[in-house]
Amino acid sequence: MLIKVYGSAVFGIDATTVVVEVNVDKGVGYHLVGLPDNAIKESNYRIAAALQNIGYKIPGKKITINMAPADLRKEGSAYDLTLALGILAASNQINSEEIGDYLIMGELSLDGSLQPIKGALPIAIKAKDEGFKGFILPNENAKEAAVVEDFKVYGVDNIKEVIDFFDSGMPLVETQVDTQEEFNEQSGHPEFDFSDVRGQESIKRCMEIAAAGGHNVILIGPPGAGKTMLAKRLPSILPPMTLQEALETTKIHSVVGKVKNRGLMSQRPFRNPHHTISAAALVGGGSYPQPGEISLSHNGVLFLDELPEFERRVLEVMRQPMEDREVTIARAQYTITYPSSFMLVASMNPSPSGYFNDPDAPLTSSPTEMQRYLSKISGPLLDRIDIHIEVTPVPFEKLSDERKGEGSVVIRERVIRARKIQSERFSQLNELHYNAQMGTKLIRKYCPLDEDSKELLKNAMQRLNLSARAYDRILKVSRTIADLENVDEINTSHISEAIQYRSLDREGWLG
Ligand SMILES: Nc1ncnc2c1ncn2[C@@H]1O[C@H](COP(=O)(O)OP(=O)(O)OP(=O)(O)O)[C@@H](O)[C@H]1O
Ligand SMILES: [Mg+2]
Repeated sequence: MLIKVYGSAVFGIDATTVVVEVNVDKGVGYHLVGLPDNAIKESNYRIAAALQNIGYKIPGKKITINMAPADLRKEGSAYDLTLALGILAASNQINSEEIGDYLIMGELSLDGSLQPIKGALPIAIKAKDEGFKGFILPNENAKEAAVVEDFKVYGVDNIKEVIDFFDSGMPLVETQVDTQEEFNEQSGHPEFDFSDVRGQESIKRCMEIAAAGGHNVILIGPPGAGKTMLAKRLPSILPPMTLQEALETTKIHSVVGKVKNRGLMSQRPFRNPHHTISAAALVGGGSYPQPGEISLSHNGVLFLDELPEFERRVLEVMRQPMEDREVTIARAQYTITYPSSFMLVASMNPSPSGYFNDPDAPLTSSPTEMQRYLSKISGPLLDRIDIHIEVTPVPFEKLSDERKGEGSVVIRERVIRARKIQSERFSQLNELHYNAQMGTKLIRKYCPLDEDSKELLKNAMQRLNLSARAYDRILKVSRTIADLENVDEINTSHISEAIQYRSLDREGWLG
């Protein structure tokens, strides 16, 4: 008897339905065709054990399984449940009437219980599009799939429940998520708040400017100055994600199987990869391509702590995706694109020993050591960072008596207002939303300077020996400062503040 059951393969961040045809006939043998990988080929051992443990069996006949489309590579163990039900139905051990109406996926343990799968959300989106009655999958992934509205999702713990559903009509419990409600509930309460940071008013101001204009930032300061603490709080002052953005972000995290036991991710992601990370893990790739850290931080913040410790070669591969806001991974037969629109926050110690710009610390690194350390940062990457902030630690005794500072919610209000001005400014331009995205032409158009400001900037460039690349960055940041003030024309106070945020361009830092 020939039976069709349905699974799904995730490709990039979208899914393709996979038809699994199971034929059971006279003879002996077990043949699995249609470009399955090793994990799928091994499935018959898991299926055999699982079925036996719940009182069923793989029939001692000739079983042929074809997974179509044949040219699409199928990978992983998530087809166990699909295959097991196909075999049961094709060998008449269970009623197969409705089995083709549902999309069924899950990895089997030997006792018949189900293990989570990757990509539940994109699979559910596709299944709804294709008109399936519902999606049956492991409980752990049910909420993320149930984010899809007007579509039935059933989370199950054991294959026995699925068998009883098809064979004897025992109902499955529908997993329900009120996407809008969950979105509203979560997006208002960031995990980390700027009110935890004592003092550091000027640095919080920089972070506000960075958030307002979408500017990439580097924090320079000795150990313990609070760099990590500050970076972690950046997502809390960015505008809340739209529902659309939340869905996009959840989809990417779903593809790598990181949305366990919850529905929508409505907080902007904050990713903090270690400096030993490989290029593939940072930008995505591998033999079975997966999104990397730059995509997992899509719509959020990527924090590269101790930037000079990262391998230069690894940082170089980030350049193109940063520009394009997406990354394309090419393989012999196909290419995959993952979105990667993130804000970069980097941190570094000012010297290998950690102390350089701290007025109270002894200077412990020689100029040559300093040069070697700083030259490790990729110049082109640094070119994409608009704001350099020097962080000096708040003295211990002050940490306890400084009053609690302004909270993230208040700062975020100002950021949102400044962003609104920017989206109106760029409303005619596709894909352009905030000041940091302006290229040279737009900078000339939207950042004109009066005579005083021109003079000030010219003098500063000479006096501080600022590099040419600093020039455009200063204009962009000035634009954002003016937007925060709701002022149309950039003036000298905006320019002089922006100049302060170019520490690394000054003499004595990078050559
Ligand atoms: N301004 C501050 N207000 C409150 N706590 C602070 C402040 N600055 C530092 N701290 C405390 O000091 C700890 C160390 O800060 P953090 O880890 O952010 O430093 P860092 O600059 O990242 O250091 P490292 O270079 O060692 O990574 C924080 O966990 C925090 O508790
Ligand atoms: Mg740190």
